[in-house]
Amino acid sequence: MSSANIWLGIESSCDDTACAVLRESEDSIEILSNCLYSQIDEHKSWGGVVPELASRAHLEKIVPVLEQALAKAKIGIEEIGQVAFTRSPGLMGSLLVGANFAQGLAKDLNIECYGINHLEGHICSALLFVGALQATPLQALIVSGGHTELVLAKPNFEYVSIGKTRDDAAGEAFDKSGKILGLGYPAGAEISRLAKNGAKNFHEFPRALNEANSFDFSFSGLKTAVLRYVQAKGEEFVKEHIADICASLQEAIADILSLKAVNAAQKYGVENIALCGGVSANYRLRELLAERAEKNGLNFICPPPSLCTDNGAMIAAAAIFRKRAGVLAKNDEVKAWSDLW
Ligand code: KG4
Ligand code: ZN
Repeated sequence: MSSANIWLGIESSCDDTACAVLRESEDSIEILSNCLYSQIDEHKSWGGVVPELASRAHLEKIVPVLEQALAKAKIGIEEIGQVAFTRSPGLMGSLLVGANFAQGLAKDLNIECYGINHLEGHICSALLFVGALQATPLQALIVSGGHTELVLAKPNFEYVSIGKTRDDAAGEAFDKSGKILGLGYPAGAEISRLAKNGAKNFHEFPRALNEANSFDFSFSGLKTAVLRYVQAKGEEFVKEHIADICASLQEAIADILSLKAVNAAQKYGVENIALCGGVSANYRLRELLAERAEKNGLNFICPPPSLCTDNGAMIAAAAIFRKRAGVLAKNDEVKAWSDLW
């Protein structure tokens, strides 16, 4: 028998197959389980995500991940009250697996199914901890392997894009620079681990588009700067100073991201800043943004690292927040994907 307060969230937009079970009550949202299969090993040897391999892995893993999420939440499949899945943006084949699976399951269980915007999901992972409506309006900085965007979240789930990357995303800047430095894929977590023992002022890497009132980002020049630096200094030097180079590179990325996020919040008169997306697991970015937010009297919101990367809980959370506000469109009521963003 389905329970109206039990939600299943399904995320499959890129290379994580994720399912989460959430229980909603009048005054709280509880994450009963948040399980995922990371496809990193499938893609590692290719140096990036291969879309076709990603779709196939989602197909293989979505049932085991759902079973794991149900077992961890200690509920039977028939108890799910509604399903939310990632509708867009993402890799088309990967999205299709999650969307078809969610819709098939909903039909079978005779429950509702809702399509959610992935980026809104990331914002909602931050809001899970503070209560959605209390925290809006808020300035969200979404930083992942595929996206880098400053989004102004207004009450009633209206979003305004303030600025975004013109080329590489922040996660790509970490991953591509890491490749040049001889690190594995994805390199963000490894760079941040190495950076802990390095000097952030060892080398000044460029901060592109560092102008007042510019809220766009550009990271493609950074990887070229890293390449030139490695070519000029030689492999031995790089090996010897890898921690310092990683710390300097991380500082360049964290500096420009946090600077623009705080500037945007000030320009638009918003008191809350939320950091979300895979790159928000980076300790220096969290530290610097928290520091700058505090200095400017802003409230800083950031989910724990387990909710920073792609996950099913954020998708279910977005659906719950929308439903509470009366702005959740059923899957068959959404005319265009852009309706949701
Ligand atoms: O949000 P996410 O899990 O997937 C996408 O939607 O892209 O983000 C993955 C990105 C990768 O580029 C990875 O290198 C980066 O997040 N990342 C980090 C850290 N952990 C993951 N970047 C910097 N520091 C980290 N600790
Ligand atoms: Zn993401």
